[in-house]
Amino acid sequence: MLIGPGLLGQSGGLIVSRLGAAKSGIVTDENLARYHLDSLEGALRLSGDYAGAVVLKPGEATKSFRELESLSERLLEMGLERGDLVIAFGGGVIGDLAGFAAAILRRGVRFVQIPTSLLAQVDSSVGGKTGIDTPQGKNLIGAFHQPSLVIADTEVLKTLPEREMRAGYAEVAKYGLLGNADFFAWLEQNWQAVIAFDADPLTHAIETSVKAKAGIVGRDETEQGERALLNLGHTFGHAFEAWCGYSDRLLHGEAIAIGMCVAFRFSEALGSCSKDDSDRVAAHFQAVGLPTRIGEIPGNKPDVAALLRLMGQDKKVRKGKLTFILARGIGSAYIAHDVAPERVSRLLEGEIAA
Ligand SMILES: NC(=O)c1ccc[n+]([C@@H]2O[C@H](COP(=O)([O-])OP(=O)(O)OC[C@H]3O[C@@H](n4cnc5c(N)ncnc54)[C@H](O)[C@@H]3O)[C@@H](O)[C@H]2O)c1
Repeated sequence: MLIGPGLLGQSGGLIVSRLGAAKSGIVTDENLARYHLDSLEGALRLSGDYAGAVVLKPGEATKSFRELESLSERLLEMGLERGDLVIAFGGGVIGDLAGFAAAILRRGVRFVQIPTSLLAQVDSSVGGKTGIDTPQGKNLIGAFHQPSLVIADTEVLKTLPEREMRAGYAEVAKYGLLGNADFFAWLEQNWQAVIAFDADPLTHAIETSVKAKAGIVGRDETEQGERALLNLGHTFGHAFEAWCGYSDRLLHGEAIAIGMCVAFRFSEALGSCSKDDSDRVAAHFQAVGLPTRIGEIPGNKPDVAALLRLMGQDKKVRKGKLTFILARGIGSAYIAHDVAPERVSRLLEGEIAA
């Protein structure tokens, strides 16, 4: 993975030097097309056989069977063959959809991720998970398909809406919380510079995050064990997102920020984590401007039964029992398979009332 400012304009040469000359087709969305597509197209035209771009509507709804079908056909019409490249240029939505299309196109063509949101640079472009949503839930159809190259240009983040940048930051902080207390402490000192696109701290934050994720994924690609730690805050967070209908009411990273705070308070209630640590987590997210409590979700409040039902739909459920990622403290998450359901209900009652 290549990370740094100004890589987009060099991407054609970077791709050819690492993957050889090949035909390439871009998949992107309208927001990226408005700000950055010219620059990427110019770079690809300079150094290879550029076949064109498919520009899709931004938003989660694009990760659908319908879009997958028309995208796959358009990529075939471009004449992309087995040795060619699909370039996924966008946030996690484009990365997941284009990566999945690449996984099934001619039984698998190579793809390059050029992630453009902070969340995509530190999370969705790493690890090889691709997929789409269905009415039954998010990401339930997909494939593991590793990108051949990931190019993360930190300059491109400057056009990302501020709220999206903060939401992506929640995933950065997650790597500190789950396994690297020093990184979390560094973020407490440097988060403002990271959010303000200061090149060195931003690059450091992305590199540290990617290294953490790649390390975990490398040891457990298909999520038999340790990879589940990456879901810190996600069992709760996914339920909050689902409650809001995956809408702008609550972005993924915002849901995860609340979810991580709830996971730390749950750990505190179960006696595995100190109050000091769980308070520190919430204080940090508050400082960054991220929500930390269910009560901060705009609109009607969820009830315990609804949240439990939504948590039960999480695909990490095995034999009716939910898996929770809990913490012994900042930088020390662990997997708990056997939490009593009454403890979860009691926790959620308290969280909703708070
Ligand atoms: N595959 C994985 O391992 C993995 C991990 C985490 C999340 N995801 C998926 O990622 C998706 C969320 O990703 P996301 O937060 O990047 O959402 P997104 O792709 O919807 O991007 C957020 C918004 O920002 C815009 N945008 C992106 N980059 C921009 C830029 N540089 N300038 C201006 N606008 C820009 C997009 O057009 C969109 O409107 C979800 O579908 C989630 O399921 C996948």
